[in-house]
Amino acid sequence: MCGIVGYVGYRPASELLLDGLSRLEYRGYDSAGIAVVQDRDIAVRKRSGRVAGLIQLVESHPVNGSIGIGHTRWATHGETSDVNAHPHLDESGRVVLVHNGVIENHDRLRERLTDAGGGFRSTTDTEVIAQLIGWNLDQLVETGRLTDDPQTCWDALESTLAELKGTYGLAVLFRDCPGSLWTARCGSPLVIGVGREEYFLASDTSPLVGYTRDVVYLDDHDAARLSRDGLEVRQRDSGTRDISIQTIEDEAVDIELGEFPHYMLKEIFEQPQSIRNALRGRLDLDNATAIFGGLNTDAHELRHVDRIVLTACGTSWHAGLVGEYLIEEFARIPTEVEYASELRYRNSPLSDNTMVFAITQSGETADTLAALRECRRKGHKTLAICNVVGSTIAREADGGIYLHAGPEIGVASTKAFTSQVTVLALLALYLGRMRHMSHSAGLAFLESLQQMPELIAETLECHSVVREVAARYAECENFLYLGRQYNFPVSLEGALKLKEISYIHAEGYPAAEMKHGPIALVDAMTPSVFVTPQGGVYEKVISNLEEIRARRGPVIAIAGTSDRRIERLADAVIPVPDVPEFLQPLVTSVPLQLLAYEIALLRGCDVDRPRNLAKSVTVE
Ligand code: AGP
Repeated sequence: MCGIVGYVGYRPASELLLDGLSRLEYRGYDSAGIAVVQDRDIAVRKRSGRVAGLIQLVESHPVNGSIGIGHTRWATHGETSDVNAHPHLDESGRVVLVHNGVIENHDRLRERLTDAGGGFRSTTDTEVIAQLIGWNLDQLVETGRLTDDPQTCWDALESTLAELKGTYGLAVLFRDCPGSLWTARCGSPLVIGVGREEYFLASDTSPLVGYTRDVVYLDDHDAARLSRDGLEVRQRDSGTRDISIQTIEDEAVDIELGEFPHYMLKEIFEQPQSIRNALRGRLDLDNATAIFGGLNTDAHELRHVDRIVLTACGTSWHAGLVGEYLIEEFARIPTEVEYASELRYRNSPLSDNTMVFAITQSGETADTLAALRECRRKGHKTLAICNVVGSTIAREADGGIYLHAGPEIGVASTKAFTSQVTVLALLALYLGRMRHMSHSAGLAFLESLQQMPELIAETLECHSVVREVAARYAECENFLYLGRQYNFPVSLEGALKLKEISYIHAEGYPAAEMKHGPIALVDAMTPSVFVTPQGGVYEKVISNLEEIRARRGPVIAIAGTSDRRIERLADAVIPVPDVPEFLQPLVTSVPLQLLAYEIALLRGCDVDRPRNLAKSVTVE
């Protein structure tokens, strides 16, 4: 999923564009480029590789101008190369654009343009958009329209958008209309920053932080023109629409690395604070319940919910699995967790009183958004548990609960996971207390939850032990992660963390499942990470651990500090504070985040920008 930036104002555009792309690089980092209006032409600088390489290119070949667009790419169509890097131009060079999304009918459009004599430079779907706008511009010129008339540009753009199938977030420059920048959105997020006599455009708010707090979120089928004369937004079906300016909370300090070597490590160590933020203002100790301000759902409706579906992708799906245990244990509501990519196409027989929660850090994951829309289409109440304020999913859901975890820049999700689990715990309490849960049980629940920020801070003290464990096993090419009950989803999450940043094959399983096949994988070079703090199934997990040891499989145990037996049973022990079972994921996930981080470092991997990945998967 790519990152797009744009600028119209009085400052040197290239500096702002490059700074914005550096902040968006977590969205994709295969190639990068900028285009700046310069001397009544458009200067383009682009190349494969990271934004740092583009910065060097612009330093050696500067561009001067105060209107421009930029792009950092996660390749969907066309391999990573200089020619496939954005921006892309039409043949005449009158149209220059950048794109985030996938145009599903690009082949047919390319064929039509080629038959009409068009020539292509790249293998991307994006160039097809540029060439199609250029072609539509030609048709308008033949009818006497002038290319320096903004309305001509609007018409060429809108004719093109009407022909596109698929998703796009676009930023477009027209050479003959040098004072403006156009943008359009369908399925890929875009936000406009409103400054004093200047406008910013970006895929999310991180490039805007420190420049403006006032933003306008574009919705699907919105298009806009940004110029020094002002901002015009048009909705495809209803024409020009009112502009609603919202304010973003993030501070510049939130997106700075500070003294940390990587965003991932910074965000792991932010977890005591991010959990405090998730709890802030939501603990009702008098009534022994939780307080939510944005559910937009009355108590009567909530009391009659007879089924809950939690839908998400990746790490957020793992948080949903913890939520399933929490809601079923404390609210006694049947709950199921669905991969969003599956739910969107399944025709699940959901009851009328089914409530759907979309769990998402970014609020822009295409599959999660599509699943949410599908459930809304069928009349279900849909709520979002989301981190990014004003994101598409947060705006399209009927209501929801923000994580308030602050920007999560590292591609591997860490603080979002523990914040999602915290919010799901609060939700389980809230639903339980409006049904059968007693005041005293609710109070005990809250008192345990209140201690979590300090206990996670204590958990982080395991970092030096984790480094030692990482050094012992970093060369292994296969890992198993095993846990039961609340720690089964943690096992899946730990395996995902290791996979996505160290490229080691890792699988998570319910510990008891080992005997049904996976134990055949065990050998001296396949460590098994057992998530086994004390609890109701502790002895069962220890039995599984011993079955692995009996087959000479190395065992790494995530165990409670009070456990005196584990040292004799495991090859390596990483201690975590003893907490009630239902809150264990908040502490047991932390050493697994650190273990993945340290192993990835030892293997020379790019922790914040792992290969093939992007932070927000805004394409199917
Ligand atoms: C997690 O480390 C991954 N980066 C990925 O699985 C992520 O959780 C998934 O893409 C969902 O993203 P979302 O929470 O923003 O919807």
